[in-house]
Amino acid sequence: MTEERDCYMEKTFLPNRASFDAHPERFLLQYDDLPKSSRKYWKQRYSLFSKFDEGVYMNKELWYSVTPEMVAIFIAKFIQACDPSVNTVLDVFSGGGGNTIQMARYFNKVIGVDMNEEHIYCTEKNSEIYGVMDKIELHLAMWPSGINVELLSKFQNEVDFVFASPPWGGPGYTANDSFDLTQLEPIPLADLLRSFFQISPNVCLFLPRNSNLDQLSQVTRDLCGETARCRVLYVHSEGYLKGIYAIWGEKFMPTNQYDTSMSSLDYSVENSEYSSSTVLDHRNSHEAMNTVESIVGSEY
Ligand SMILES: C[S@@+](CC[C@H](N)C(=O)[O-])C[C@H]1O[C@@H](n2cnc3c(N)ncnc32)[C@H](O)[C@@H]1O
Repeated sequence: MTEERDCYMEKTFLPNRASFDAHPERFLLQYDDLPKSSRKYWKQRYSLFSKFDEGVYMNKELWYSVTPEMVAIFIAKFIQACDPSVNTVLDVFSGGGGNTIQMARYFNKVIGVDMNEEHIYCTEKNSEIYGVMDKIELHLAMWPSGINVELLSKFQNEVDFVFASPPWGGPGYTANDSFDLTQLEPIPLADLLRSFFQISPNVCLFLPRNSNLDQLSQVTRDLCGETARCRVLYVHSEGYLKGIYAIWGEKFMPTNQYDTSMSSLDYSVENSEYSSSTVLDHRNSHEAMNTVESIVGSEY
């Protein structure tokens, strides 16, 4: 094992680690431990983590905010198929590791950042269950204010792709017809994207399904130029539209390697996931092409 690999395995400093270690029961919640409003998520536990029964760690917030496993596998495969040269992915807002873990199965290294130490701890535990801890480096930090010059420079040197699933403001994010991306937490969409483009031109955001696409178009033009494009993938799972992936970076636009190599990818139709897509370009055209882009299946 190389020195570099050893270093990924070093545990992140967490001020309350000893207390977390002493009370695993607070992360191994059962149906009766969940707040009544979150009990509806219990039946989705294997969709969140197929290895749930092996002792997956989640706190109350993660029960409703983790990216479901198939949705996370989908984007990891998509990124790799579009650009096989991607080596290191930065997962900002890494939560309980839903995306971090699946990215680590497809890429050599994943750097996760989250401001919540319970979430970092859960990601560590969960990545051990999935056997990918040696590919993951975690940072307890607030984005963007907690990213110092040294860390930013490290990310700029190492990272090929920035992925982020920012908070959607809790389960009530669909209360309005359109999700206002200027109100995105922790900072408005334009500022968030600007912080990511400092690191890489290749970016993906996991956003609410009712996100305002006009705002996405406008921000794309403002930050990347009049002819820039943003690709939007509508991700369905178990019959529901779970959210959209908004993607920037030329290698990830249609007519790239992914679109031509799809048939050669090893997808299973069981537990099918699929996504239709639209490209937001200078004509501000939102008509979904409605092409089925992928089918992915359970791998465990
Ligand atoms: C939707 S969850 C991410 C879910 C994650 N992709 C997963 O699958 O587990 C959003 C995460 O963002 C974190 N967060 C919110 N504001 C943050 C900030 N300013 N800096 C860093 N992390 C933040 C929260 O602690 C939470 O874990």
